Amino acid sequence: MKALYKAGPQAGFKLVDRPEPVAGHADVKIRVMTTGICGTDLHIQSWDSWAQGIIEVPLIAGHEFYGEVVEVGKDVRDVKVGDRVSGEGHVVCGICRNCRAGRRQMCIHTVSVGVQRDGAFAEYVVIPETNVWVHHDPSVTPELGAIFDPFGNAVHTALSFPLVGEDVLITGAGPIGLMATAVARHAGARKIAVTDISRPRLDLARKLGADLAIDVSTTRVREAQQELGMREGFDVGMEMSGHPAALPEMIDNMNHGGRIAMLGLPSQDITIDWGKVVTHMLTLKGIYGRELYETWYAMSAMLSSNPVLHAGISAVVTDTLPAGDWEKGFDIARSGTGGKVVLDWTQL
Ligand SMILES: NC(=O)c1ccc[n+]([C@@H]2O[C@H](COP(=O)([O-])OP(=O)(O)OC[C@H]3O[C@@H](n4cnc5c(N)ncnc54)[C@H](O)[C@@H]3O)[C@@H](O)[C@H]2O)c1
Ligand SMILES: [Zn+2]
Ligand SMILES: [Zn+2]
Repeated sequence: MKALYKAGPQAGFKLVDRPEPVAGHADVKIRVMTTGICGTDLHIQSWDSWAQGIIEVPLIAGHEFYGEVVEVGKDVRDVKVGDRVSGEGHVVCGICRNCRAGRRQMCIHTVSVGVQRDGAFAEYVVIPETNVWVHHDPSVTPELGAIFDPFGNAVHTALSFPLVGEDVLITGAGPIGLMATAVARHAGARKIAVTDISRPRLDLARKLGADLAIDVSTTRVREAQQELGMREGFDVGMEMSGHPAALPEMIDNMNHGGRIAMLGLPSQDITIDWGKVVTHMLTLKGIYGRELYETWYAMSAMLSSNPVLHAGISAVVTDTLPAGDWEKGFDIARSGTGGKVVLDWTQL
């Protein structure tokens, strides 16, 4: 099969022939149709210090995907050949304390598809049956199915705290911040303000339901509060940029008792006013991945029940390229100006 392969500890990938992965007795083999390009993949491509610390080479990267089941192991009970599926990229151990308690997203032995085991920048990928999410709704296209992983990040973050009637601040209008904007709208937020420094992404945020899209390179969030007619501060914050300036400004603009869900991975140390966290009685919650599998249930349920949300999340995919044009796709993703970039493995 063709695969984007990192043969050793250096920058770059090569599109080469690799042996097809073999499904174990509890595994499912999937013919990959589409794979999303994530920031993680850009780190793996450029082989920065984060990638060097976590990646095991050789590796086929890619963890956001959709495809068709072509083979199932002998112990697979529910997933069938021909099913259209997405995959949960966090493979958990099943026996640690959290796994046994049903909190599988907190597994202490999590192994990530496309990071620590071969992933989906390839014509085929193998994952355990437990990680397969079958799409029963035909309105989930291969492009939409490819972004269930980051959509899950957005849904898990956005549904961390009750949103009905709340004023919400989302910092970072990357693909995940954009999807969180649409989910917050769907979930009943009152005012939604979204920040970024990219004009095209701020435009997308408006289309996805932001009441105000703030360019923080020129405008302060405090001024935006006034524009929205707010008096006391935001009730819920979602940090989705990883930029060290975003969280401190968010903390400065929260109401007392405000709740912050943090998804963005800090690009460097962040200095925050801990005194304010204490005296303003703020809650900060770290978010990693998706809830297994309530987030997946929520994604499918919300998409099939709300055409506006379905259209909004679908619109987050702004570029789809044949997998053979992967270098161009990675360049577009790295430019950080559009939405999600998806590679089509049915067109090499
Ligand atoms: N915790 C998890 O499980 C998880 C999973 C996936 C991604 N992430 C992280 O979540 C974040 C969002 O992911 P994404 O794919 O949407 O990434 P992205 O990098 O495309 O989006 C980040 C956005 O933040 C914007 N930004 C930069 N400086 C800013 C500032 N000062 N204020 C506001 N916005 C600013 C950028 O222009 C960009 O549009 C990234 O940090 C990513 O590493 C976390
Ligand atoms: Zn990802
Ligand atoms: Zn575990």
